[in-house]
This record gives sequence, structure tokens and C-alpha cells, in this order.
Amino acid sequence: MSLQTPRVAALLRQYDRPGPRYTSYPTAVEFNDSFDDAAYRGRLDAAASAEDEPLSLYVHLPFCEARCSYCGCMVIITQKREVAGRYLDYLEREIAMLAGRLGDRRRLVQHHWGGGTPTYLDPDQIRRLDETVRRHFDIDPDAEKAIEIDPRVTTRDQLDLLKLLGFNRLSMGVQDFTPEVQEAISRRQTEQQTRDLFAYARDIGFDSINVDLIYGLPRQQLDSFSRTLDSVVELRPDRIAVYSYAHVPWLRPHQKAIHANELPDAELKFELFGAAIERFLGGGYVAIGMDHFALPGDELALATASRRLHRNFMGYTTRPATDMLGVGVSAIGDIRGAFAQNHKKLPAYYGAIDRGQFPIERGYLLSGDDLVRRFVITALMCNFHVDAATLQARFGIDFRRYFASELAQLTAPDGPADHGFVVVGDGGIDVTPDGRLFVRNICMAFDTYLPAHQSGRPVFSRTI
Ligand SMILES: C[S@@+](CC[C@H](N)C(=O)[O-])C[C@H]1O[C@@H](n2cnc3c(N)ncnc32)[C@H](O)[C@@H]1O
Ligand code: SF4
Repeated sequence: MSLQTPRVAALLRQYDRPGPRYTSYPTAVEFNDSFDDAAYRGRLDAAASAEDEPLSLYVHLPFCEARCSYCGCMVIITQKREVAGRYLDYLEREIAMLAGRLGDRRRLVQHHWGGGTPTYLDPDQIRRLDETVRRHFDIDPDAEKAIEIDPRVTTRDQLDLLKLLGFNRLSMGVQDFTPEVQEAISRRQTEQQTRDLFAYARDIGFDSINVDLIYGLPRQQLDSFSRTLDSVVELRPDRIAVYSYAHVPWLRPHQKAIHANELPDAELKFELFGAAIERFLGGGYVAIGMDHFALPGDELALATASRRLHRNFMGYTTRPATDMLGVGVSAIGDIRGAFAQNHKKLPAYYGAIDRGQFPIERGYLLSGDDLVRRFVITALMCNFHVDAATLQARFGIDFRRYFASELAQLTAPDGPADHGFVVVGDGGIDVTPDGRLFVRNICMAFDTYLPAHQSGRPVFSRTI
């Protein structure tokens, strides 16, 4: 990083504040219950008429045997294995309803099982769910078929089966190999365990493996985290995600088990991420978007080079389907200009399906202005560039005039342009290499909903 140390401390004080991660715009905080089953049916009907367009399908598998104390995902902790069978019954019914409504629109180019822990399912259950999806949808021969696997609970038999079923991308949770950190986050996972599963996955032919790390966890130190980074570079995954720890105990009360005094401060967090950038770029990886890295031949790296990177709830992708379906408890879909989220509690999810309804808890129908801003924020988060001519062609807006106050904010004295983080010109916006670290803050200038959340109860995690 080229930022100079005394300057960094002052900048961090200015930029480290609560802000969204922009996995969506508007963020999930804006979702409301006026978007219901009927509204969802309307969107699905509109989607059905775009018969030739490809789809993405996300399946949420919420179960985990034990809770990691940092976890921000929607999970259900249970050792009662029989719950998974009942859950699959309902997933099948939801998938069948969805496919029925979509008619001939069946082609999937992206299919992802996330969680929770998808490998909580035993081999028969994995097979059953896969068959259900294939019964109702056509998976493109070169579709991305991905699954999140936890190396602590995934067996070789499960990997063999996933390979047989055509899964072609694995994503492994690692977070940090340091025992003291693992102790503090209640996730014991030896490096050997990860190495063994990784080696086996490679042996049987998985040629796209991602590893997740988190910086900002309790007890993380620069030297021990650097050892984790070295080990990961040595493993040579195709992709690496290095997430900033989102500490949101008001949303995830179990995070209160994490002692605030053990969390790294903003400066150390910044150094930890700086070490990741240095190690991964030095190790031959290419930086992808805000917090990912990929080997140069990986399609994410190629898309980055040609500014074709996209992002949806499943992460960075090169296969943007026009509509994304989410099934399972708490899953979010993005269909014809609306977000739709399923019920987060099992009884409500089951109850809706029993009544013959889609299990929608809340959602959001985007306005014309939301669509423009979503485009800008996605372009910044993925490609660090907003093109004025594209905005004109796509939305018929004059970028300078439409965003006059936002651009004034970015170029104000002692603001992001002044700090060398962003360049605003007639052609659009470019985020500089130093500015990439603050891209969430830059996006926040375009978020019209943010001011309403800036006082009162905390809503978002911190940007650094
Ligand atoms: C659903 S989880 C991973 C799947 C699997 N259950 C596992 O733990 O290996 C997906 C990823 O989200 C990330 N994650 C979870 N909670 C987070 C938090 N509070 N802040 C940042 N990243 C988080 C972790 O890197 C994790 O690997
Ligand atoms: S990090 Fe993974 S294993 Fe741990 S609680 Fe969250 S989803 Fe479950």
C-alpha cells in the first residue's frame, strides 16, 4: 500500500464508520413486508415472459452442528439430523411452485448451495436435492455449480458425490489458522484438516476452489495472520476471499461472546488487510473487487481486466443472469427489479408453503432512481469505474447533472477526491488504487437511504 503511516491514522479516523457492504442496493435494511406473496407472483410472471434469458438459483441450507461465534450468516444450530429431511420436503415444494410459475423459463447458468453448512446433508439428501433441482430446471452444460463446504465436517464421500453430480466450484471456510484466534471464535479447524480436504478435492478433479478468510477477528496479530496468508498462498486456491469481520451483535446476539477488547482496532485491521494484499499480489494473485483475489487465468481475473465483473448475493461473478431466484429459509432473490426474502424462521417458512403460498417475509420493489444508483454502486464495487456514456445510454441520464450533489460531496475539500481516492471527470468516476480500500465509503455518497440510518440505533458494520 502506498498510503503513508501518519496519514493513515488520520484517514482511518475519518473513514472508519458504519456503512453497508452493498451486497445489494438498496440494502436489506430497506426491505419491508408490503412486498408479499402476491407481489412476488407478479415478478415471477414478468420473469416467465423472458423465456430465453438465463437464471441463477441459490439454495439456502441453514443447518450447522455448532455455532462459530463470529458468524453473520442465517444459520440454525441443531444436532437433530432428522430436521434436514423435513426441510428438504419443503424445499422441494418451494422449488416446484417456483418452476410452475416460471413456465418454460428453466435455464440455469449459476447454481449455488450456501449456508449454513450445505454438507450437513448426508449423501442421500445431497442426491435428492440435486435431483429436485434438475427435475425442474435445465442446468447449462457450462453453468457455475458451486457449494460452500466446511472442512471440519465435509467427508471424502461427500466430495466424490458432489463431483459426480457436476459441482464445479468449491468454497471452503478457513478464516484464520491461528489456534488462539480459533479459540476466540469457537471454530477449531486444524490446518492439516483443511490441507487434507483441499488435496483430496484437487485429486478428484475440482479445478476451482475458493478459500474464505476473515480479517478483524479477535486476537488476530499481524505476524500470525501473515502465517495464515503464507499457508493459503502455498495451498494455491484459485480464489481467495478476505472478508472484513462484520461485528453486528445487535443483529447477531451470539457475537456478544466475542470480547470487544480482543478485536483489532481500525489501524491493525487496515494492516492485516494490507498484509493480505501484499502476500496475495506477491504470490501471483490478481485483486478482484473489494475483497477477493484470483489466479490470473481464473475467469474472475479475466473479467476484471475487461471490466466485466458483476456481483450479486452469491458474491462476485462473471455470469450475470437477469434474474436470481433464492429458495430456502431466509434466502433472497432478485427478480425483475425487486428483492424478495423468504421467512427467516422455519415455522413461518413451512406454514406459508403449507398454505400454498410463496414463503415471502419481505422484499423491495426498486424505483427508477434505485435502479440507476444500484448500477453505479455495483460498477464501483466491481470495476472501480463508472462510465458516464453507459449511464446515458442505459438510463438516459446526464451523469454530471443527475449526480451533481453526490459528485460535489466526493470532490469537496478534505473529501475522497482530495485524498486521492477518486477521480471525477466528464467521462465518469474512477476509484484509484489507494481509494479501493475505501470503496464502501465512496459508494455511500450515492446511497439515498443512508442519512435515515446515521443517527439512533446501529445498523451497519464498520467500513474498515
Ligand atoms: C456460510 S459461511 C461458510 C460456509 C461454512 N459454513 C463454513 O463455515 O465453512 C460463508 C463465509 O462467510 C464469512 N462470514 C461469516 N460470518 C462473517 C462475519 N461476521 N463477517 C465477515 N465474514 C463472515 C466466512 O468467511 C464464511 O466462510
Ligand atoms: S461460519 Fe459456517 S459453520 Fe460457522 S456457524 Fe457460520 S455457517 Fe455455520
